[in-house]
Amino acid sequence: MRHHWLLLGACGWVLLILMFVSKFISFRAVDDYGERAGGQSGTVAGTRGVKPIPGTRPEKRAPKPSDQFSVVPTATEWQSVSDKRVELLSSVCKNSSLRNLTRVSISKFVLDRIFVCDKQKILFCQTPKVGNTQWKKVLIVLNGAFPSVEEIPENLVHDHDKNGLPRLSSLAPQEITHRLNTYFKFFIVRDPFERLISAFKDKFVKNPRFEPWYKHDIAPAIIRKYRKVHRDDDLAASGLHFEDFVRYLGDAEGRRRTDRQFGEHIIHWVTYAELCAPCEIHYSVVGHHETLERDAPHILRAAGVEGLVSYPAIPLGITRYNRTKVERYFSGVSKRDVRRLYARYRGDFGLFGYPSPDFLLN
Ligand SMILES: *[C@@H]1O[C@H](CO)[C@@H](O)[C@H](O)[C@H]1NC(C)=O
Ligand SMILES: *[C@@H]1O[C@H](CO)[C@@H](O)[C@H](O)[C@H]1NC(C)=O
Ligand SMILES: *[C@@H]1O[C@H](CO)[C@@H](O)[C@H](O)[C@H]1NC(C)=O
Repeated sequence: MRHHWLLLGACGWVLLILMFVSKFISFRAVDDYGERAGGQSGTVAGTRGVKPIPGTRPEKRAPKPSDQFSVVPTATEWQSVSDKRVELLSSVCKNSSLRNLTRVSISKFVLDRIFVCDKQKILFCQTPKVGNTQWKKVLIVLNGAFPSVEEIPENLVHDHDKNGLPRLSSLAPQEITHRLNTYFKFFIVRDPFERLISAFKDKFVKNPRFEPWYKHDIAPAIIRKYRKVHRDDDLAASGLHFEDFVRYLGDAEGRRRTDRQFGEHIIHWVTYAELCAPCEIHYSVVGHHETLERDAPHILRAAGVEGLVSYPAIPLGITRYNRTKVERYFSGVSKRDVRRLYARYRGDFGLFGYPSPDFLLN
């Protein structure tokens, strides 16, 4: 009999502990995400220092200057985050010591990146690995070719001759100028180093069968030039290492020739400045992948098309910056190579308010 009571008591305790722990975990998860989301945009000067709400462990929250919203920000608050990003961008564009990294001409390469939605007067500069396929679908719907995002066949999304979403480069010069001057313009960025990891994983590790050139042409060319010790016979067998990739990316001079040879594929790793010319084209909004949950509705609102279409659901957690992942990828890269890489991507860090990755540099 006594055993039964003891057992019952123990079960009660376990249940209580479980309830407490589960509450704690779900609270932390939501909290962490909010903090991280704030952190990325909070790098914009002048948005810091919001006081914590009473009773929320200020000793933990206070040291995080990035924690700018105690609850989900309102549309007005997000508008001001967005405005500050654009202000930061234009001030960094004026910084002469970053000029080499931020100034590019509005070339055909740039005009090829920009998609035109004439019906709603929107221009969208495509930057890979930040949910761009979804934006393209949104714009295809807005252009009227399909009634909803779900009804667009996957194979049509990137077929710009058939999907009614032309590139800006396909228009005449005066039509281009007119649109650049008058349309709503936006693009999305993410932490520059995490972006490179994502490109590396997607193009050289997963290596989709329908993009064989990454494995068969680009990887061997990089290995030959940048791997310290390699044997010709294992070029094809051993894949590209992240260390090789970083050495190639950080080699400002040596890259020029290889990049010409790689053609369009370099869009996956050239700087955002080179893709979208943000110092020459006055973008209305620069969204951050890390805060896409807030930026997507904001962009639709700012472009005046909310209610006409909505951005597809964003899988939970995929937009979050993961420092552990970044540290893991860079753990085999020498300091010298990290610094060279940073020197090359410093413009992107500065223009979009991402903090310099001191944990890798020092
Ligand atoms: C310009 O950029 C450099 C390098 O990032 C930085 O050290 C400097 O403070 C910036 N200058 C201004 C005026 O913001
Ligand atoms: C900018 O590029 C020019 C020419 O490539 C070079 O001579 C100069 O040192 C660079 N300036 C900076 C600040 O990196
Ligand atoms: C972050 O990355 C690490 C290493 O790749 C992974 O184990 C971990 O699950 C990731 N964390 C989140 C929250 O996605």
